[in-house]
Amino acid sequence: MNVLVIHGPNLNMLGTREPEQYGTLTLEEINSLIASKAGELGLKARCEQSNSEGDIVGLIQAGDFDFLIINPAAYTHTSVAIRDAIAAAGKPAVEVHLSNIHKRESFRSHSYSAGVCIGQISGFGPTSYLLALEAAKSHLEQ
Ligand code: DQA
Repeated sequence: MNVLVIHGPNLNMLGTREPEQYGTLTLEEINSLIASKAGELGLKARCEQSNSEGDIVGLIQAGDFDFLIINPAAYTHTSVAIRDAIAAAGKPAVEVHLSNIHKRESFRSHSYSAGVCIGQISGFGPTSYLLALEAAKSHLEQ
């Protein structure tokens, strides 16, 4: 089973970006954790990062996955285009956030994409992605 993990804008800066909010692991380190967890669960994960909304829509439209895990980052709160791409793909998806978006500025509480996902995992740091892999495994086994 192929899981596509998409990291949105500014997540390439993890490690140095607001560590009090997002921790100190780099994106590369998080991607290694994702690869090992996916291996343990018998899943295959491909991780992509883009700062561009159009590129993220393109990755979703390519449809080369059985399950989508997406941290749309700032586009969570602005992008109808990413929401529509997830809906059009017709594949199961989970939205992930490192920080708890409901505990921060009020504009972060609203997600355009969560409504077209099975669920949202928010606030567990890099573990949010690993919990999403567990969710993918359990959903794909149903
Ligand atoms: C984020 C939360 C978003 O509000 C923010 O714009 C991000 C990261 C998170 O993982 O906590 O870039 O998606």
